[in-house]
Amino acid sequence: MVAVDRVIAARLDTGVPLVSHVSKYIIAAGGKRLRPALLLLMAGTLGYTGDQRYNLAAVVEFIHTATLLHDDVVDESTLRRGRPTANESFGNPASVLVGDFLYSRAFQMMLDADNMRVMQILAEATNVIAEGEVLQLMNMHDASLNEAAYLRVIRSKTAKLFEASTRLAAVLAGASAVVEESCATYGQALGTAFQVIDDVLDYAGDATETGKNLGDDLREGKTTLPLILAMQRAQPDESALVRAAIEAGDTTQLPLIVEIVRQTGALDATRAAAATEAQRAIDALRDFPDNSHRRGLLHLASQLLQRRA
Ligand code: IPE
Ligand code: IPE
Ligand code: MG
Ligand code: MG
Repeated sequence: MVAVDRVIAARLDTGVPLVSHVSKYIIAAGGKRLRPALLLLMAGTLGYTGDQRYNLAAVVEFIHTATLLHDDVVDESTLRRGRPTANESFGNPASVLVGDFLYSRAFQMMLDADNMRVMQILAEATNVIAEGEVLQLMNMHDASLNEAAYLRVIRSKTAKLFEASTRLAAVLAGASAVVEESCATYGQALGTAFQVIDDVLDYAGDATETGKNLGDDLREGKTTLPLILAMQRAQPDESALVRAAIEAGDTTQLPLIVEIVRQTGALDATRAAAATEAQRAIDALRDFPDNSHRRGLLHLASQLLQRRA
């Protein structure tokens, strides 16, 4: 991970001061660097030790960071990684354009791998993420969204980049098609569980730990799984209250809605849905050789439900 951070720092180099300023602002704030970690762990599991893993790990982190810059503009979020978002500090235009810089820098970097499959995977992932964010935009304030539609959004906007990270490791390692699919399944399932828990934390988390404001999803009119399940389980009047809050993007009743989500068991049911996905990730690695890297991947999947940040 130190080597990845070295690549990241070197590749932020640009002669345009505002680009360095904004990109360093968000990258220096940290973040979990989860996608690069997954790529390195999967590469290690498969015994690949070449330098290209550091480059591609930095590529996926750049793509992730670009999506965050854009996502915070779209979501009008003001807090990320425990500090004001880039849009809050530098404005929407700078955030959008520096996001574009990071996307395009990632595409320059992936050429280093000199591998058509690598480019295919990343081009497809980036495109699917964009589709996911647009789908989500279309679904805004639609309280009738069902679980399948929710799942389609999160598989696209979040799980796809996790999937690309672990699939890339397989490609670097020259793995068979069967092994590559298992790697991809692990990434997709883990990424899905990760976003489901993110959606739990938007109601039940602690802003000092997540580094993000609670209630952002409701304010944006996002019908996430905790709300979908709460509306199914609640009494008609409470269900109507949740529906109205989604439609209006109204957070004034947030404490009451948190209470409904909790009391109906929707929060636990959402966590259970994440657990099912996490187990699917674990199962995907069943036939892989046992080594410390694989154990790291299994540990990540089994600890995911406990994450608070
Ligand atoms: C945030 O991702 C966006 C989601 C997919 C929920 P992370 O939680 O991985 O963000 P950082 O990089 O650790 O800040
Ligand atoms: C994740 O969605 C954003 C992307 C993967 C592009 P969210 O909107 O839930 O992420 P946070 O909560 O802002 O980090
Ligand atoms: Mg957001
Ligand atoms: Mg969120």
